[in-house]
Amino acid sequence: MIKKIILRDDEMPTQWYNVTPDIPGGLLPPLDPETKQPMGPEKLAAVFPMGLLEQEMSMQRFIDIPEEVQDILKIWRPSPLVRANNLEKALGTKAKIYFKNEGVSPVGSHKPNSAVPQAYYNMKEGVKRLTTETGAGQWGCALSFAASKFDLECKVYMVRVSYDQKPYRKSMMHTYGAEIVASPSLDTATGRRILAETPDTPGSLGIAISEALEDASSRDDTKYALGSVLNHVILHQSIIGLEAKKQMEIAGDYPDVIIGCCGGGSNFAGLAVPYLPDYLDGKKIRFVGVEPTSCPSLTMGKLAYDFGDVAQTTPLLYMYTLGHDFIPPGIHAGGLRYHGMAPIVSALVRENIIEPVKLHQLECFKAGVLFAKTEGIIPAPETCHAIRGAIIEATRDLNDPKTILFNFSGHGLIDMGSYDKFYAGELHDYEYPEEEIARSLANLPKI
Ligand SMILES: Cc1ncc(COP(=O)(O)O)c(C=O)c1O
Repeated sequence: MIKKIILRDDEMPTQWYNVTPDIPGGLLPPLDPETKQPMGPEKLAAVFPMGLLEQEMSMQRFIDIPEEVQDILKIWRPSPLVRANNLEKALGTKAKIYFKNEGVSPVGSHKPNSAVPQAYYNMKEGVKRLTTETGAGQWGCALSFAASKFDLECKVYMVRVSYDQKPYRKSMMHTYGAEIVASPSLDTATGRRILAETPDTPGSLGIAISEALEDASSRDDTKYALGSVLNHVILHQSIIGLEAKKQMEIAGDYPDVIIGCCGGGSNFAGLAVPYLPDYLDGKKIRFVGVEPTSCPSLTMGKLAYDFGDVAQTTPLLYMYTLGHDFIPPGIHAGGLRYHGMAPIVSALVRENIIEPVKLHQLECFKAGVLFAKTEGIIPAPETCHAIRGAIIEATRDLNDPKTILFNFSGHGLIDMGSYDKFYAGELHDYEYPEEEIARSLANLPKI
């Protein structure tokens, strides 16, 4: 049995895969919130560089990865594909479980796969400073790292609850030279308004996005970067699945089930979408996206046009959403606390290609601890959701063992505070009340 498959540097993909032209039924365009008409790149150019906007709208299947970007990705890529045989043994299953280990990046997750190209295209167009939001802190760290590689300044609006729970994420961002502030903050009009209304709010990604956008729109030298949801982010993350396909081939296996945790959808889509052409050619593959029961956009949200942020400043995206003013509870998988889901993932759920599943946090932490004891690596709380999903699939029918591939989106070494709370019995399961969801869905923009 092969334990792990490591590709050579020169086997790293040199092109990203753009799934947009292959999505059955296609994607609906983003809308201008004022006119409710499709929004072209001109208006978005105030906050994003043209290089990324072209990718956002592109119908070209393969897009070259610039050499400067490849050189930085090679610090940790190609990432290993690992057979979780010790976990299989502990589960008493004949299923084969493989995971793509994205925890080997400098900041410990998949996020730099997109942060590096985003910083690169901004640098190429003369931008001097980037702003962004971060939930778990992983994206903030990734952009801080990427900005430092291209000599850009970086300011990170970090969701209040994560800012308090994850002090070492702040230290990491400082190490890469970024400025960090808890969101809502006093640095923006949106933050000041929300603090005046709800001084003890835990914050949300929707609020932090509003603040980062407001900051970027108020300065000529600054643009904004988003760590998930958008098409260009999923394009950059496709390198995960492109590598995994080569590695699974070397392993002599083909996945029956592909699993990932879903916050905004980028790590799961990054692994899954390169397999879509095979699926459309008739290969039997199940794609399972796991979200937390406490923030169930795919399983309890609505497919509709909505804002990506609380202050209603982003274009309207056609996605599964819980409503832009939905404030999820402060569960420990901070990276899964977002009210919406990537339009690409949403379209594949609409087409019944991706199966969404919601899981409670305690069963996910338990799965993460079993994974740590068997495979040795402590997973990020977000990743625990994918692991629990993989365990469910591996033990569903012991007489019909499947080949499972899941994305190990990040390690949890900076999340030990959450594990301590789990061990102390201080974490609880939480199901969002349907009335609350209905209340925030009632505020969806009328199209
Ligand atoms: C380790 C990890 N996994 C998953 C996610 C969820 O994001 P996405 O759904 O965009 O992959 C995050 C987000 O911060 C994360 O840090």
